[in-house]
Amino acid sequence: MAEKLPIAVLISGTGRTLKNLLDRIEAGSLDVEVRLVVSSSERALGLQYAEQNNIPIAIVKSSEFIGKDDDDSKAKFSAAVFDACRKADVQYVAMAGYLKLLAIPDDFVEKVLNIHPSLLPKFGGKGLYGRRVHHAVLTAKETISGATVHFVNDEFDAGPIILQKTVEVLPNDTIESLSDRVLERAEFEAYPEALQAIAENRVEVVTIDGQRRVKVIEKKD
Ligand code: GRF
Repeated sequence: MAEKLPIAVLISGTGRTLKNLLDRIEAGSLDVEVRLVVSSSERALGLQYAEQNNIPIAIVKSSEFIGKDDDDSKAKFSAAVFDACRKADVQYVAMAGYLKLLAIPDDFVEKVLNIHPSLLPKFGGKGLYGRRVHHAVLTAKETISGATVHFVNDEFDAGPIILQKTVEVLPNDTIESLSDRVLERAEFEAYPEALQAIAENRVEVVTIDGQRRVKVIEKKD
């Protein structure tokens, strides 16, 4: 088996994304070791999965870093998150239902991933998260939606895209039915696939026409 890729997972909420990653690791299909779970709240339900798996937890709350200057608070809050990641000696950081915008330090540029429940660049950006994304997709009468795994840069949902998976939007879909389908059929497949590609050294980021773009090298059988 390939050496396991050490990662930290960042959560804010229910932790279904974290649980899915831990299930894949347990099943032997994801060569990743979750060395740390960082939560933006001590009340995040997802912390239960870290506890059940004896994974160290760091609670880093943005409210503890409020200063006079917004940029300064964000920098200090981000530094606290990444200090915890460095101490845990992780190579990559996976945001999983994490709702804070972080300033990515130089040593973590293109090492922080997120998953978004739409086909970016559509239906992304500040304020578009959770149910709001699916509401926007239904309002726009899209027939296809899905999930996008991307590297995180300093803007919401704007970093280089690693991979996308699509699902159908059905005529009688509600926010709940669409959100469940995107989570189970797109997100739960796309995130482990992207992390496994990184674990297998098959992900490269290159500059094309001044834009950072991801190349995922296909797995050889
Ligand atoms: C999903 O919509 C995912 O796209 C987004 O967070 C939601 C899942 O949250 N990034 P969680 O993993 O259940 O906390």
